[in-house]
Amino acid sequence: MAVTLSNCRVKKTTSLLAAAGVCAMLVSAPLAAADGAAVFNAVCNMCHGSGMGGAPRIGDKAAWQPRIAKGVAILEEHAINGYKDKGVMPPRGGKASLSDADVKAAVVYMVDAAK
Ligand code: HEC
Repeated sequence: MAVTLSNCRVKKTTSLLAAAGVCAMLVSAPLAAADGAAVFNAVCNMCHGSGMGGAPRIGDKAAWQPRIAKGVAILEEHAINGYKDKGVMPPRGGKASLSDADVKAAVVYMVDAAK
């Protein structure tokens, strides 16, 4: 645990967002089974893989940077409840059976891919 915490602290100095994402994964990994990559591939990739409907594409730093600047908590909230600006992000990507943890893991997966 000491190692985990010190890792989080070190990363925080370089990027608060990176620390939040990495630490959240470190803490939640053993407890929750949420797999960001799997959720992304099953649900989010349909739009975020291609940019369909104005969705920020995974790995597209320019598209994600202003969104990440809002804070990961806001992105998670928008992914869970839906969000509409230039396009429409459906609540939970349109898959109502996803848990909050599933959606959050997929958000972290996309945020990490945009670094
Ligand atoms: C039907 C297409 C579609 C699917 C499926 C989809 N998204 Fe989106 N998503 C969008 C669009 C379009 C936007 C851009 C909305 C805008 O900025 O107007 C968006 C934006 C977002 C944002 C940025 C929100 C913000 O505040 O800027 C996040 C985070 C996100 N999606 C997460 C997810 C996750 C996680 C999944 C899978 C569980 C998912 N999306 C599935 C279309 C989709």
